Amino acid sequence: MNPNQSILHGTDYYPEQWLEHPEILKQDIELMKSCGINTVTLGVFAWSMLEPTEGTYSLDWLDTCITNLKEQGINTILATPSAARPAWMAHVYPQVLRTLQDGRAALYGGRHNHCPTSKVYAEKTIAINEALAKRFADREEILYWHVSNELQGACYCESCKQAFRTWLKKQYDNDLDLLNNRWYSRFWSHVYTNWDEIDPPMSHGEKNLHSLIIEHKRFVSDLTAQWVEREIQAIRKYDKHTPTTINLMGLHDSVDYNRLVKTVDVVAADIYPTWGLSAGNNDGMLHTIPKSGNLYRNYRFHLAYYRGLSRGNHWLLMESSPSGTNWHPITMQKRPGVHVVSSLAAIAGGANSVQYFQWRQGRGGWEQFHGSVIDHEGNQGRAYRDVQSLSKALAVLGDLSSYHTATDAALLLDTDSRWMVEQASGPRNDGQRQHIETAMRHFEALQARSISVDVVSRDADFSRYSLVVLPMAVHLDQDCVDRLKTFVKQGGSLVVTYSSGLYDRWQCLVSGGYPYGLLSCLGIRVIEQDQLEHGQSISINWKRDTNTSDLCAYHYCELIEVEKETEVLSTYAEGLYEGSPIHTRHPFEKGYAYYQGARTDDETLRTFYQEVEKTLARKEVDAIPFLQTIPRGMYYDILKNDAEILVFLVNPNESTYELTIPSEAVSVFSERVLARDGYRLFQSWSILVLKFNA
Ligand code: GLA
Ligand code: ZN
Repeated sequence: MNPNQSILHGTDYYPEQWLEHPEILKQDIELMKSCGINTVTLGVFAWSMLEPTEGTYSLDWLDTCITNLKEQGINTILATPSAARPAWMAHVYPQVLRTLQDGRAALYGGRHNHCPTSKVYAEKTIAINEALAKRFADREEILYWHVSNELQGACYCESCKQAFRTWLKKQYDNDLDLLNNRWYSRFWSHVYTNWDEIDPPMSHGEKNLHSLIIEHKRFVSDLTAQWVEREIQAIRKYDKHTPTTINLMGLHDSVDYNRLVKTVDVVAADIYPTWGLSAGNNDGMLHTIPKSGNLYRNYRFHLAYYRGLSRGNHWLLMESSPSGTNWHPITMQKRPGVHVVSSLAAIAGGANSVQYFQWRQGRGGWEQFHGSVIDHEGNQGRAYRDVQSLSKALAVLGDLSSYHTATDAALLLDTDSRWMVEQASGPRNDGQRQHIETAMRHFEALQARSISVDVVSRDADFSRYSLVVLPMAVHLDQDCVDRLKTFVKQGGSLVVTYSSGLYDRWQCLVSGGYPYGLLSCLGIRVIEQDQLEHGQSISINWKRDTNTSDLCAYHYCELIEVEKETEVLSTYAEGLYEGSPIHTRHPFEKGYAYYQGARTDDETLRTFYQEVEKTLARKEVDAIPFLQTIPRGMYYDILKNDAEILVFLVNPNESTYELTIPSEAVSVFSERVLARDGYRLFQSWSILVLKFNA
């Protein structure tokens, strides 16, 4: 590794697939060195090679690999192997496998299918983790323990059902009446009289009791977190110091990631956009929802989400594809420029690693056409050269460990609200609830106003921001609303949209009006929630010149009542609600609280944030006025430390842009940006990193 470089540049590496070919293992290390790979992740899915028969460990091959890599300056992130189990284990102990949601016992196959309450599986996992930790404890070349892989999903076996009941008893102090009360279980005669009557939500069983489903998701999240803790405990028996991490899948939500990240030292993300598509393509983010919108916006939203999860600390980009991704509908390779731009965007977004799945193309197996740095014969193609270019860029950027991504706003995307919106029956069942899509559209509108954003959960520290945005935050608890009110009282700006503060913790409707707990702060009350047909819209009358036409409300339209001192910013211009407010602003001690009572087009969102901007205490962009001149379509991120500000300017589009760079800026790095007389020409997928004094 370049001694001045703090960023890990690495890849998942599966030497166990090539152990009979020492010449290949030798070539791997040579090629890793020549393209600047300084870290590999080993051991993910290696269990059958680490414990070929029950109780017999074979760790020498792994030790040799780790040592050989180390000799060439390449460090290791060592995974525990629990994400896939050996066939012998499932054969002897079928109870290690999951029971599916329809009650069928899963057969051996695939990965990620263990039962988290299986005693045997826990014993086997602890034993192999201890064996690994004993052998590799505190080796300086091991940078992290990587617990399992992409933990997800639930098991529905008798033991897991029983564990759910035990968990519930604890949540409700053994009081079944309390549970019935919270769950509103008299509806459809669902009153429980014995804890054993409660089954988890099964595909051929209960699917309509919101409280049950939400509580089961919380139980699964706790169980998954406990699983991680148990794995770590086994490691800690021998290794007290090496930090731990888990790799999470984009915006996946079968497990509450906010709960899961609390179990490890560092958060890691796996993010797989279809980079071959153009930035504006509607199908750009296939790994995670939504499957619409702008590819680059969706990618940046993911980065902001991992910034939020890591609470201002650095996070790891544990997996990304060096080229294409085989499980997407089509495996498109990255176009020129995409690799360096998207990888540096992750760094600008707070990651301190860029790692790939995978190093060498597998000859066989389901992922044989997945992107890899070199092919199965060691040939070095475009992906390899892209990786090499990124290494050069990282070397130029040097040590970034003292820098942090600078942000102005927190945008709430809370797991509880996500679960609740997804499972609600009404008010929209037509596929247009668009919870995450709504969050992303606010994210983009904020970006258009040069307001930088972290995507956060309900328990985030709001005081770090000058603006907090709640898009469709259907569940708000007392603690959260208290902190939000304090935030506004102290001078913050708050934006709340339609469909917020509807539900309590059990997805029952709150008492006292919507949005829960924020009526006095917002100076409004929601009177009626209406829905428009898909395709139908109502024009908006903005209470000042906007220079734009066709502003419209659609899908969600609320009728709200405002207090005396609430300023009405816009109203419905026609129809049933003509004249009644959509956007409002309300002073609340030193700050302002805004409400958006209808879903609107993007132009209106931008106009709205132009208003919001007026009450923002400060923006990161204020320090560098030049950033206000960046054309729409281009993106920037700011990394800063006490002395310097690094601005990463990106053009992810097919069109080119011209920009005049201020004389005080020092150009640190550029790729595909041409210097012309007095200006720079940003070609498609280009990046320029500028340095300013802080
Ligand atoms: C996931 C897994 C990897 C690999 C990649 C392929 O993120 O963690 O093992 O399967 O997907 O994209
Ligand atoms: Zn189970």
